[in-house]
Amino acid sequence: MCGIFAYMNYRVPRTRKEIFETLIKGLQRLEYRGYDSAGVAIDGNNHEVKERHIQLVKKRGKVKALDEELYKQDSMDLKVEFETHFGIAHTRWATHGVPSAVNSHPQRSDKGNEFVVIHNGIITNYKDLRKFLESKGYEFESETDTETIAKLIKYVFDNRETEDITFSTLVERVIQQLEGAFALVFKSVHYPGEAVATRRGSPLLIGVRSKYKLSTEQIPILYRTCTLENVKNICKTRMKRLDSSACLHAVGDKAVEFFFASDASAIIEHTNRVIFLEDDDIAAVADGKLSIHRVKRSASDDPSRAIQTLQMELQQIMKGNFSAFMQKEIFEQPESVFNTMRGRVNFETNTVLLGGLKDHLKEIRRCRRLIVIGCGTSYHAAVATRQVLEELTELPVMVELASDFLDRNTPVFRDDVCFFISQSGETADTFLALRYCKDRGALTVGVTNTVGSSISRETDCGVHINAGPEIGVASTKAYTSQFISLVMFGLMMSEDRISLQNRRQEIIRGLRSLPELIKEVLSLEEKIHDLALELYTQRSLLVMGRGYNYATCLEGALKIKEITYMHSEGILAGELKHGPLALIDKQMPVIMVIMKDPCFAKCQNALQQVTARQGRPIILCSKDDTESSKFAYKTIELPHTVDCLQGILSVIPLQLLSFHLAVLRGYDVDFPRNLAKSVTVE
Ligand code: F6R
Repeated sequence: MCGIFAYMNYRVPRTRKEIFETLIKGLQRLEYRGYDSAGVAIDGNNHEVKERHIQLVKKRGKVKALDEELYKQDSMDLKVEFETHFGIAHTRWATHGVPSAVNSHPQRSDKGNEFVVIHNGIITNYKDLRKFLESKGYEFESETDTETIAKLIKYVFDNRETEDITFSTLVERVIQQLEGAFALVFKSVHYPGEAVATRRGSPLLIGVRSKYKLSTEQIPILYRTCTLENVKNICKTRMKRLDSSACLHAVGDKAVEFFFASDASAIIEHTNRVIFLEDDDIAAVADGKLSIHRVKRSASDDPSRAIQTLQMELQQIMKGNFSAFMQKEIFEQPESVFNTMRGRVNFETNTVLLGGLKDHLKEIRRCRRLIVIGCGTSYHAAVATRQVLEELTELPVMVELASDFLDRNTPVFRDDVCFFISQSGETADTFLALRYCKDRGALTVGVTNTVGSSISRETDCGVHINAGPEIGVASTKAYTSQFISLVMFGLMMSEDRISLQNRRQEIIRGLRSLPELIKEVLSLEEKIHDLALELYTQRSLLVMGRGYNYATCLEGALKIKEITYMHSEGILAGELKHGPLALIDKQMPVIMVIMKDPCFAKCQNALQQVTARQGRPIILCSKDDTESSKFAYKTIELPHTVDCLQGILSVIPLQLLSFHLAVLRGYDVDFPRNLAKSVTVE
């Protein structure tokens, strides 16, 4: 759960200051992945190979603290120019060991910094490896699993059988000893101007920029065979020679820059030409040439990695005029929901086509049940759409929290269809649930917002929700786009059900008007800000509703707790009498979501119960609802849409409320404490 960024300039002269700036900017783009400490490794002295040593600068706190620290380093002349240089940088979210400079990355092999490494993921067998290395005399200084990797590569190097062993061979031997998930980038004094990167289970991509033509658009994978059973015979493997012609370089051996990052947001301002690494790829740059190799070849392996052109714009990931990414993303929803539907919903013919699913539609229609799996907000999108999916697909629909689904060893069958909802496409619990379902032969469908993410690549088919990059840790526009994606799936499944045609048309009409209605809801911001002014000193806030809007309550409460640190609970109004009613009194703030839908009468019932206990409900209701407002302490009136889409409109006031509460309470909305955007650990 960390951000990796590394930068190589090959025959592109850069001053140390410019290198710092590139590394720091890269880290800032990735800060949403974790932000309790950060560090860089760069060349210490001038660029003459013999004098080269690696300088590490690490700092607890956000990237800004590291940035300040870099300029305090007396030993580093900022004007020194490097014709070729490789710098690595990391922003951390602690998993092993407290946030501190010593636990932050890069981690090093020894006090002389011979090898340094940055890591995203978790090494599950690090204790055994550490014991082994300690028994060989290697001394550890941090509590991290990552330090084991730095020590292990030094061990392999110290015990190499030939002097001319390559950097990538060392890394290859190291990763064969690692269990768990990782994306890694290595730098070494023994291989100046070279870089090696690899991944398994954690994302990693490489951007390439050159004003010269690139040698290829498809990098052929090099394979070699080796057998390596355990740590003891780690250095005894025979390697085949690599074919060095299979690599990417600027034609004529000219200047080129490479950018390594956990995701594209850190790279896009430099280049849109990227290569996504696959699990167990080892990418190495030496003499400005990038080659990729793998140890073993399997039948399903793609024999090359394509250079892809990303369609992302830099301004898409900038804050614009908003004070926080979260606020910007809330206000982007008219556009993001439109983008989710664009080219998929035909409002003239009332048809929906999700290109990523069409080849599997027959199989899906034959299935025994749908299981929709996710975590946090993504799970709430599944709860929100369960009823309409059941109605439109006429199939049983289970919705599952990924962690609980795995804890229960839930029975899954070959004729199940399992959906994995994930904004990042990297959430470890959801990803493990995907592997679990795949192993049991179910058809797997990804619903993600990140092209090239692990979930989108491992599922049999999928839907890209197309909401645009979401940077704020609190998910907002991804929720509404996930919601719409699942509704579109239901509509596609029911296209030939005669009995459902009126309902389908009603929903499709509803989809069409959503962007305009969302704008109307967003225009209520001032009113919601005033409400926040009244509530921001409270300790607790209940959010209550039922039916289509139960998910709204869960999602609203999650938003409130994660960025305002107030206690908040989403309560199913039907459960009120079974416990939560005891919480109600004059003081307890309660928000009730009461919409003109089939649960309206039952919600009125709950409202009576709340007011009878002197509760003072703030009601989110339809514009034309005169009944609820009679009992309300305050109302927020929303435009009306089809019952099953109303949750898209009713969640937005709660997103806005949580945002304003957090600002008024003085918190950093985009970087809530203890949380990270992409949760790549269980
Ligand atoms: C809440 C939030 C989290 C995520 C959850 C799953 O605002 O963002 O609850 O929804 O961590 O993340 P993804 O969707 O990336 O799998």
